[in-house]
Amino acid sequence: LLEEMCFPGVNRDGPALRGAKVTIVGCGSVGMACANAILSAGMASTMVFADVDQKKVKGEVMDFVHGGAFLHANIKAAEPNYDGSEGSDIVVITAGARQRPGESRLALVSRNAAIFKSILPPIVQRSPDTLLLIVSNPVDILTSIAARMSGLPPGRVFGSGTYLDSSRLRVALASELAVSPQSVHAIILGEHGDSSVAVSSVANVAGARFSDIRMSDAQWAELHGRVIGAAATVIALKGYTNWGVGAAVGALVGYILRDEKRVVPVSVTAKGTYGIEEDVYLSLPSVLGRGGVERVVRVPLSEAEQGKLRASARSLAEVAATVDL
Ligand code: NAI
Ligand code: 2OP
Repeated sequence: LLEEMCFPGVNRDGPALRGAKVTIVGCGSVGMACANAILSAGMASTMVFADVDQKKVKGEVMDFVHGGAFLHANIKAAEPNYDGSEGSDIVVITAGARQRPGESRLALVSRNAAIFKSILPPIVQRSPDTLLLIVSNPVDILTSIAARMSGLPPGRVFGSGTYLDSSRLRVALASELAVSPQSVHAIILGEHGDSSVAVSSVANVAGARFSDIRMSDAQWAELHGRVIGAAATVIALKGYTNWGVGAAVGALVGYILRDEKRVVPVSVTAKGTYGIEEDVYLSLPSVLGRGGVERVVRVPLSEAEQGKLRASARSLAEVAATVDL
C-alpha cells in the first residue's frame, strides 16, 4: 500500500545478518565516528579500515584494537589495493575532502568524484554483493556517481542523505516543545544541503501536527534555516562535523543488519517520483532492511513541498552536470 518505488533484485526476505563484515573507507574524523558507533553497539563481527594514508589506517586499527576487551569485533586494516575487504556486507565510504569554513558541500564535487574513481572499482570487485553506504560530500551527487561506477542495483547503493538533517530538525523541534527528539516525527527530504525540504505537512508529536499546535510557518522556516546552517556553525567552531553523522550512520547500519525495515530518509534514485524529471539521487523516505533500500515510500507532500523537492532535484542536477568523469 505504501509503495512508491520497488527495486527488482532486492531480496526483502533475507535473514537478518549475524557476524557482519563492515568496511569503512576513509579513516578521517567521519569514518572513525561511524566506526565507533558501529563497534560500540556490537553490530559488526569484522571491521576493516581503508585509507590512502596507510600510516593513519595502522594507527586507527591499533587504537581500536586496544579496546578489544570491550569491543566484540575483529578489527583490521585493508591493503592499499583493498585486499582484506573481500566479502563485506556493507561498505561505508567517508573518504575525501571536507568543507573549509564558509565553503559549500557542493564545492567538493570534482575533488571527491575523482577520489571515488580510485575507490569504487577495487571495492566492488572484492565485494560484489555488498551494500554501499555513501557519506562523503556532496553525498547525493556522490551516491549517484557511486551507483553508476559500481554497477550495483540502485537499492544497494544509497547515501546517508538527510537522515542527519532530520535528526537536527527533530532536536530543534523537541527543544521548542520540551519533549524528547525521539517523540518528534519529522523528516527533511531532498538534498543534504541548502535546498533541503523540511516537510511540515506530516511532522507531528503524538499525532498532533505542528500546523495544528503552536508552530507558525515563520517559526518552522526559522528552525529549518537553523538546520541548514548547523554544519557551518559546527565547522566554524571545531573545523569539521563528525559525531552527529557518525551516530546517524551507526543507526542506519543497525537497521540494515537487524533487517528492521525502518522507514528513514536516505539518498536514493529519485527520477519519476513527485514529478522529478532529472536523473538524480536525493533523500526520500525509504524502507531500510537487509537488502538495502528495499522500497521508497510515498508521503502525502503538499503541492508547495513537491515543488521544493523538484527544485532541489534541479539544483543537484545542475551541479552534477559540471562533473567531468
Ligand atoms: P578527513 O579529512 O578527516 O578524512 C578524510 C579521509 O579520506 C582522510 O583520512 C584521507 O586520507 C582519506 N582519503 C582521501 N583520499 C582517499 C582515497 N583516494 N582513498 C581512500 N581514502 C582517501 O575528512 P572527514 O571530516 O572525515 O570528512 C570526510 C567526508 O565526509 C567529507 O567529504 C565531508 O564533507 C563528509 N561529511 C559528510 C557528512 C554527511 O552528513 N554526509 C557529515 C560530515 C562530513
Ligand atoms: C554535515 O552536515 C558537513 O555534511 C556535513 O555535518
